[in-house]
Amino acid sequence: MKGIVLAGGRATRLRPLTLITSKQLLPVYNQPMIYYPIQTLIKAGIKDILIIIAPEYSGHFLNLLGTGENFGAHFSYAVQMEPKGLADAFIIGRHFIDGDDVTMILGDNIFEEDFSQEIQNFKSGAMIFARKVTDPERFGVVEFDQNKKAISIEEKPTHPKSNFAVVGLYTYDKRVVDFAQNLQPSPRGEIEITDLNNIYLKNGEMKVNLFESLWEDAGTFDSLLRVSNIMAEKHLASQK
Ligand code: G1P
Repeated sequence: MKGIVLAGGRATRLRPLTLITSKQLLPVYNQPMIYYPIQTLIKAGIKDILIIIAPEYSGHFLNLLGTGENFGAHFSYAVQMEPKGLADAFIIGRHFIDGDDVTMILGDNIFEEDFSQEIQNFKSGAMIFARKVTDPERFGVVEFDQNKKAISIEEKPTHPKSNFAVVGLYTYDKRVVDFAQNLQPSPRGEIEITDLNNIYLKNGEMKVNLFESLWEDAGTFDSLLRVSNIMAEKHLASQK
């Protein structure tokens, strides 16, 4: 199983902070944001990790993270010149993936959960994780039938069909590269991970795991502050 951390994009929502550095290098309490998704992959047993970064501040990522040795892992890097969508990570990373299974985590997604069991038991198809939220319209949203079977995924719907958001952690078999290469850009000009997920879902090859522990997409001022406060409290509690 290979790992990808996608830390591209321009993060215009976090300006002016992101005029001086990358979103994924901003502090979440006492660590740069990207430490959290890296630790989530490593905790899940994934040590061979491709970090995809935007050209601006790319040297800062290299200075901070290096070879990965300090994390007990091996890091490679690739540059995403334009924010072309989350599914573009599998096109950029196709040589790195090299016919293996792959788990991608978004560089601004912060979890506490240990996903090692699900990820280590992955066999084929695709696997995503979903969590109940109060603001589903901000995310990919899973629709379930009466038997709690996932039947559709919609990207940022105006009228969400459930409160279950698709979080930024995705596991796929090697076919993801071909599927990504054949996607058409959405109206916002990006190749969407939701379209990729719907291919697997329609084939009956998508597993949706629900979980309840902490999850934040730290891409807004409010969520960044919220998750920093949560981490500060946990840190204080662990010192007592
Ligand atoms: C992306 C995905 C969305 C997912 C979210 C999780 O949205 O497109 O489906 O729910 O990540 O953080 P973005 O944050 O890039 O707008």
